[in-house]
Amino acid sequence: MKRIVRREEQLAAAPELRDPSFSDAVITWQKKYGRHSLPWQQTRDAYRVWLSEIMLQQTQVTAVIPYYQRFLQRCPSIFDLAQASNEEVMALWSGLGYYTRARNLHRCAKQVVEQYQGRFPSDPALLQELPGIGRSTAAAIAAFSYGTQAAILDGNVKRVFARVFGVEGYPGAKAVEDQLWVRAQALLPEKDIESYTQGLMDLGATLCTRSSPSCQRCPLQSKCVAFRDHRTAELPQKKPKTKVKEKHALMFLLRHGDQVLLEQRPESGIWGGLLSLPEYQGMQVSADEDALNEPQMRTAAETFAKPYGEIKELHTLPALTHVFTHFRLQFQVMYVVIDRPVLSVQEQGMTWLSLADSQQAALPAPIKTLLLQLAAQLSPAVSGDVCRDR
Ligand code: ADE
Ligand code: SF4
Repeated sequence: MKRIVRREEQLAAAPELRDPSFSDAVITWQKKYGRHSLPWQQTRDAYRVWLSEIMLQQTQVTAVIPYYQRFLQRCPSIFDLAQASNEEVMALWSGLGYYTRARNLHRCAKQVVEQYQGRFPSDPALLQELPGIGRSTAAAIAAFSYGTQAAILDGNVKRVFARVFGVEGYPGAKAVEDQLWVRAQALLPEKDIESYTQGLMDLGATLCTRSSPSCQRCPLQSKCVAFRDHRTAELPQKKPKTKVKEKHALMFLLRHGDQVLLEQRPESGIWGGLLSLPEYQGMQVSADEDALNEPQMRTAAETFAKPYGEIKELHTLPALTHVFTHFRLQFQVMYVVIDRPVLSVQEQGMTWLSLADSQQAALPAPIKTLLLQLAAQLSPAVSGDVCRDR
């Protein structure tokens, strides 16, 4: 759900953050050093401005120019676009990528024709209600087409603001972004919104680049916190790596001859419904601090294995890791060789299966691999009656 920002709300921005010298510097610089001959700067036609802004959302200027021109040759007006077929629109877009943009573009054209007789509204709040138009794009369209006083904040502009004002945190984070919007709003100029908006874009694209910005030529240098503190390489801060949760589990691999004990897992939870190694219920996929130490794991394995027969050998296998979408599972397998099995003691959901059959059964991949390795190690021995390890 898009949040629509009404104009009254936009204009009531933090007065303490206002600084007319900021926009003055941007505007003066843009007029002298900014870009002036991009194809979409030669018009105030909202249709053309809108088309360029959508294309420029995720694509570089140089790549956009030929597409923009070809698109306008085929669809010189919004009515042509609204009437074009989906196939034709997709073909015109083909090669630009991010095809949701093309579908939204087509929907938007139809909607503007139906709802606004083909004329884009000048209020950014109304523009924002149209498909494919977010808050920043709405502001850019309104500013370039109608001179509406509205703040943009795309990726480049976030970088400029984060550096000039030394804004900490990742600009994609909601709280940081909100803070940047308040600044963007407060710094709007009284006039020359077109040059100001274009100037912010130009600064971000040509001087205040991601790596090695050209601070020596920058009109904001004297105000810039990142320049002053030699922090242009640190600001804006990068997206924090989400720490994947670690979970631990303890499992038992009981073997008698070529038979291994497997357990049907519950339908819900990891490996739901699959056959797997019996899992120690005392910790069952628990948090980091609950990992058991070696003696505890041995005791748990002995307690578990005892009802199934005489414990001949007990080994702690090297810990295994399996990565799920939302966590990393570290699991420890206690390997127990059983002698004189009490085969009648079979609990619900437990089955003895031969190592060979286990490869055909519905087992989790890492468990299957483990059993395959075990079978390979045992291969000369398991075929006979005498079972020996290694
Ligand atoms: N990126 C987004 N909008 C742009 C524009 N109007 N000119 C140059 N680059 C842009
Ligand atoms: Fe960006 Fe450097 Fe200008 Fe600061 S001084 S806004 S870091 S180019």
